[in-house]
Amino acid sequence: MALTGYSWLLLSATILHVGAEISITPEPAQPAEGDNVTLVVRGLAGELLAYNWYAGPTLSVSYLVASYIVSTGDETPGPAHTGREAVRPDASLDIQGVLPRHSGTYILQTLNRQLQTEVGYGHMQVYEILAQPVVVANSTELVERRDTLRLACSSPSPAEARWFFNGEALPVALRLGLSPDGRVLTRHGIRREEAGAYQCEVWNPVSVSRSERINLTVYYGPERVAILQDSTTRTGCTIKVDFNTSLTLWCVSRSCPEPEYVWAFNGQALKNSHDHLNISSMTAAQEGTYTCIAKNAKTLLSGSASVVVKLSAAAVAMMIVPMPAKPMEGQDVTLTVQGYPKDLLVYAWYRGPASEPNRLLSQLPSGNWIAGPAHTGREVGFANCSLLVQKLNLTDAGRYTLKTVTLQGKTETLEVELQVALLE
Ligand SMILES: *[C@@H]1O[C@H](CO)[C@@H](O)[C@H](O)[C@H]1NC(C)=O
Ligand SMILES: *[C@@H]1O[C@H](CO)[C@@H](O)[C@H](O)[C@H]1NC(C)=O
Ligand SMILES: *[C@@H]1O[C@H](CO)[C@@H](O)[C@H](O)[C@H]1NC(C)=O
Ligand SMILES: *[C@@H]1O[C@H](CO)[C@@H](O)[C@H](O)[C@H]1NC(C)=O
Ligand SMILES: *[C@@H]1O[C@H](CO)[C@@H](O)[C@H](O)[C@H]1NC(C)=O
Ligand SMILES: *[C@@H]1O[C@H](CO)[C@@H](O)[C@H](O)[C@H]1NC(C)=O
Ligand SMILES: *[C@@H]1O[C@H](CO)[C@@H](O)[C@H](O)[C@H]1NC(C)=O
Repeated sequence: MALTGYSWLLLSATILHVGAEISITPEPAQPAEGDNVTLVVRGLAGELLAYNWYAGPTLSVSYLVASYIVSTGDETPGPAHTGREAVRPDASLDIQGVLPRHSGTYILQTLNRQLQTEVGYGHMQVYEILAQPVVVANSTELVERRDTLRLACSSPSPAEARWFFNGEALPVALRLGLSPDGRVLTRHGIRREEAGAYQCEVWNPVSVSRSERINLTVYYGPERVAILQDSTTRTGCTIKVDFNTSLTLWCVSRSCPEPEYVWAFNGQALKNSHDHLNISSMTAAQEGTYTCIAKNAKTLLSGSASVVVKLSAAAVAMMIVPMPAKPMEGQDVTLTVQGYPKDLLVYAWYRGPASEPNRLLSQLPSGNWIAGPAHTGREVGFANCSLLVQKLNLTDAGRYTLKTVTLQGKTETLEVELQVALLE
């Protein structure tokens, strides 16, 4: 019998009956691009003369892949043959090195000795080996709450996409910004916690491929600008500092990137662009308001904080220091006074506690001094509060008291114990 696939297809088209019993399944079931696939046929019945394979949804000659004569093993390629298909004697179809375009419906049509035909349907999906996708961002440096993030997962394949943030599944808030196809992530008013590494991944049953990380920076601040004292967390609107001590003011804030700093003292800009300000020796001249202005060059926002720096109450930090420290009998000693008040009205020295009979001398702003009852004729007072005691004798040892009164009427008393060494 000289049958060709073309002729008997047309002849028998009217007596088709769908053979529910013929099954066609690809092996492997989920073939990857490049695999050798067999469309395995099961459920054939009777003695068959010929097979026709179609790659398409209908029995149409244009979809004919091949016709096969069982008795001779002759195979005739049809219009849909891609050069990779071969029919086996058992009717299965081998396809070498399948391509995604081989995906679709396959139909097997059989012809038996009674010239009856049967058809079976099968479906094959060929999955491509996915190339690495690329995340495309319209900007990787964004300003918090102001800018819109737009990331696209670029891949030539229509495969499904999923996203990763710092290596983990994307947080819900961000997932809400995905386009219906999952390829584009849009986030209005980006937040700082959304800064990080983004990746997208495309996947299908046979392959998965993840993009490189793309790093997103979110700029914010400065916020919570504050001035701290000496890198401790101590803060407040007023800082009290001891006389002649040093102080460092630190300007801190939450900001990305690090802000630029400007310092001002009593409203006057200082030449200092550091995050700290050193006051090396505290005096009345350093008292005032210190302001730090932090400016973020990326967000174009700025913030400031101020503190008032004052000399502490003990600011006068008065201290009596005998010079020399341990004078000898017959030597002179000066009881020097460090940190005496600048606005001194009057001071008085006493041998022993401060009381009228113990008064050695008093000194007025004019520099004139008045001898007191305890003056021996060997004591001299100076404008800087110092007391010179000449030609010491052993009875000069003991307590001395200094009493100061400022122009504002503030009184302070200070004591020192003078030791006199016995001359050998
Ligand atoms: C497919 O079959 C050809 C021919 O037999 C062979 O050379 C090739 O390695 C096979 N490919 C795969 C992926 O198995
Ligand atoms: C990024 O894309 C978003 C959404 O299309 C847009 O609103 C935004 O202006 C873009 N940003 C930049 C820096 O181009
Ligand atoms: C993103 O950041 C990571 C970790 O800091 C780094 O290893 C990687 O090279 C960065 N990628 C790019 C594209 O800058
Ligand atoms: C300030 O302190 C320094 C170092 O401690 C000292 O040498 C100096 O005499 C002090 N000045 C005054 C005015 O007390
Ligand atoms: C402030 O003092 C510290 C410690 O002495 C020093 O390291 C720093 O350079 C000083 N800063 C300025 C701005 O002078
Ligand atoms: C105070 O003045 C006297 C006399 O001029 C001087 O000897 C002394 O060192 C001064 N003391 C201080 C602390 O400046
Ligand atoms: C020590 O000085 C006082 C007062 O000037 C005097 O009365 C006394 O005699 C002196 N003592 C000696 C041992 O010189």
